[in-house]
Amino acid sequence: MKLRIAKVPGDGIGPEVVREAVKAVNAVCAKFGHSAEYTLAYVGACAIDRYGDAYPEESHRICMDSDAVLFGAVGDPKYDNDPASKVRPEQGLLAIRKRLGLYANIRPVETFESLLYKSPLKEELVRGADFVCIRELTGGMYFGEKGRRDNGDTAFDTNVYHRYEIERILKLAFEYSGRRRHHLTVVDKANVLETSRLWRQAAQEMEASYPDVKTDYMYVDNASMQLIRCPKFFDVIVTENTFGDILTDEASCISGSMGLLASASIGEHTSLFEPIHGSYPQAAGKNIANPLAAILSAAMMFEYSFGLMKEGEAIRKAVSASIEAGVVTEDLAREGERAYSTSEVGDWVAKHI
Ligand code: IPM
Ligand code: MN
Repeated sequence: MKLRIAKVPGDGIGPEVVREAVKAVNAVCAKFGHSAEYTLAYVGACAIDRYGDAYPEESHRICMDSDAVLFGAVGDPKYDNDPASKVRPEQGLLAIRKRLGLYANIRPVETFESLLYKSPLKEELVRGADFVCIRELTGGMYFGEKGRRDNGDTAFDTNVYHRYEIERILKLAFEYSGRRRHHLTVVDKANVLETSRLWRQAAQEMEASYPDVKTDYMYVDNASMQLIRCPKFFDVIVTENTFGDILTDEASCISGSMGLLASASIGEHTSLFEPIHGSYPQAAGKNIANPLAAILSAAMMFEYSFGLMKEGEAIRKAVSASIEAGVVTEDLAREGERAYSTSEVGDWVAKHI
């Protein structure tokens, strides 16, 4: 198969981890007889520097014309402490999600036996935890009307959800649960928010069409507690954009390092694959960032965009092997053991594939 991939390294450690993900993709292609063709596109601070726009038209065209987007991270501290700044790197990420219609963000949380000790939670709570967060990605407060009034002294972000936006992601979540352990948790704040009441109403109406899925409902405050009290309770979680943003950062530390969490964003146009860790500017250019989340995102790309399951599995196996062999970056290295660089880990994984 010929894979046309838009390569979007972005900012911070993005270019370093995407480089390693590309090595893994090329190794898989060599092994299984595929060919990958990459087109570079700029999104984020690097795009602002070049085009004055965090998601330039040219980048959009490249993404639309590709079969999949392999994404690094966006963000640059030079914009973080300037609330007056008109352009921000994050706008690039929001724009690419919106314009590609990527309404579902799928973030799996798995644990690795040899890393259990790295988790801030007790090993017995974490061992065997295995769940997926499905976050709505193009609606809610992120995209509702926002602004200032009263000379700037009043600010608002509107949380809006239309029924079709809720139903399409719930459908995806019900179906996903049906392929896993048949347990769906709908997370909302229906005791307070009208948008959440519409979410819950829609989910309750759809439940009957998925009799093999056990559906339960949980308020987001309680869910944030249950995630660390008993992560094994969960199989599939579905929730709105803002809640999903917060809960997935919380969930990402369960497994021991945020540097392991991959994600797929899917919807109307080209799907996008991205590590959840962000641009980590302090580590940029140092060849120390953990590339495994980006490499695992490439595994999701094979599975979701191309339906190539064996290829995805080959990457996952190599990643697990690198962890078992202790070929890991400093965030995962055991005390007293040597930490490998970003590119050494990537080379090892590619060779193992
Ligand atoms: C994420 C990030 C983004 C978000 C930021 C960078 C805009 O935190 O992907 O979770 O809030 O969605
Ligand atoms: Mn986030």
